[in-house]
Amino acid sequence: MKRIAVVTTGGDAPGMNAAIRGVVRIACSKKFQVLGFRRGWEGLITNTYINLTPRSVGGILQLGGTILHTSRCSDFEKKQGIRKAAETLELNHVDGLVVIGGNGSFKGALELSAYTDTMIVGIPASIDNDVFGTEETIGFDTATNTAVTEIDKIRDTAVSQERVFIIEVMGRERGFLALEIGLTVGAEIILVPEVKYEKEKLYKSITENMAKGKKSGLVVAAEGIGDTHLLAGQIQRNTKAEVRLSIIGYAQRGGNPTARSRLLASLFAHKAVQLLSRKEGGKVVGLKDGAIGTVELQKSCNTEKVLDPELLRLANLLAT
Ligand code: F6P
Repeated sequence: MKRIAVVTTGGDAPGMNAAIRGVVRIACSKKFQVLGFRRGWEGLITNTYINLTPRSVGGILQLGGTILHTSRCSDFEKKQGIRKAAETLELNHVDGLVVIGGNGSFKGALELSAYTDTMIVGIPASIDNDVFGTEETIGFDTATNTAVTEIDKIRDTAVSQERVFIIEVMGRERGFLALEIGLTVGAEIILVPEVKYEKEKLYKSITENMAKGKKSGLVVAAEGIGDTHLLAGQIQRNTKAEVRLSIIGYAQRGGNPTARSRLLASLFAHKAVQLLSRKEGGKVVGLKDGAIGTVELQKSCNTEKVLDPELLRLANLLAT
């Protein structure tokens, strides 16, 4: 093993920079050379990279975003694009590739692995926490805390004006973020894409809450549940509540990573480089029962991480 490459792909997540720094410093301590491909898969298709050294990754540990940049690359969805990326790896004599990203990125990595001998290891980084094989992804804790900080403020005005707030958080396909945020802000209702909800039940629950003395309320909804603007209007018309909508949005993707996200990034980076130096490719690193472990890349891609129904039940119980 002489040369490894690192790339950040898909949606950025706070802590990706901490992971890049970890990979570079640990790899360089083993005398590997490190290339950083730019703008996600696009950099592999166009052969655009920078050389990374322990000094060039100085001062990035605490920064949100990714110094390598990232993109949603439609060319990588085509065979021709994947072939081109494989050629770039060969051209640059890359022995190992570290892919820092989420579920979609790993599916891309798996496809790429069919066209190249370069070993590939995944580091899970996504605010959605939707990667199978790890209890937590880099950035999830930061995004949760960003939303919680904002929603605590929204609660102040909700209580003062005796209003119900629908708060939309990120999560187009999965509700891990909404669930953890909802539970930790004490939301009365949590709506996630995985669980179908009935509007009539929702109105009833809000009406009952008001009848039992809850003059204000918080409904945390993942963006994937549908049109929250429409929902806010429907709730207002079908209950006696005065309803407002607040969308937290992309602020959750940015900001300084929390200590937790930085720690995970550093531990995952260490494990990823260790795997490559042992010539163990085709793996995703992850957190399981508090320890850093690995899962096969293929298994991670082909298995859906399940939302914890117990956590949802607990959140409902706590909201009574
Ligand atoms: O990174 C994950 C995520 O933030 C999802 O929660 C969200 O739906 C999606 O990315 C939006 O990303 P983009 O606008 O970049 O497609």
